[in-house]
Amino acid sequence: MAQLSPLLAARWSPHAFNPIAELTDAEVASLLEAARWAPSHGNSQPWRFLLGRRDDEAYKRILTNVSPADQRWAGRASALLLAAHVTADAVGAPLTYAAYDLGQAVAHLTVQATSLRLHVRQTAAFDEAGLRADLDLPPEVHPHVVVAIGRLGDPYSLPEDLRVREVGLRQRRPVAELMLG
Ligand SMILES: Cc1cc2nc3c(=O)[nH]c(=O)nc-3n(C[C@H](O)[C@H](O)[C@H](O)COP(=O)(O)O)c2cc1C
Repeated sequence: MAQLSPLLAARWSPHAFNPIAELTDAEVASLLEAARWAPSHGNSQPWRFLLGRRDDEAYKRILTNVSPADQRWAGRASALLLAAHVTADAVGAPLTYAAYDLGQAVAHLTVQATSLRLHVRQTAAFDEAGLRADLDLPPEVHPHVVVAIGRLGDPYSLPEDLRVREVGLRQRRPVAELMLG
């Protein structure tokens, strides 16, 4: 296999978060700083985040709007970060790359998490209307994913279907399949 940075090689998305571990304030600051320094179209920085830490009100409001299937693992994470973007700048000009830029910011955060020995799993399975209402999101803010962040837990504590996925081999298309022409 071609050479990969150890940080990228170590990254994967678990379901088995440690249900009692907490993030330090320094870890949270470091994750958000990584997202802050992501590249974006015209340096527009359209990403917006709402962070919940276990047992706080924001965490509960995010989690309750995640699909029941994904709540089974998201509810074990130390933090839930709603990752959203705005689609227009301060003068109303459209930010057509906003979703792409948000993805890069979350990717940065994910790599930073790996460097802190933290893990991340994202979910797009949430009730957007419920989130909007429960978090009082302004109309210009578009939620994209919920990012669960925490430390690794015991895969054998998972429900059977998740445990099977947790310990299974991860698959990727070969590079040749990604190349056009
Ligand atoms: C935009 C996005 C949405 C995702 N949505 C879900 C989801 O709804 N449920 C889930 O269990 N995992 C979700 N994931 C995690 C992916 O399934 C996971 O990243 C993928 O299977 C590759 O595995 P890896 O991250 O361990 O390499 C999502 C990931 C991304 C980037």
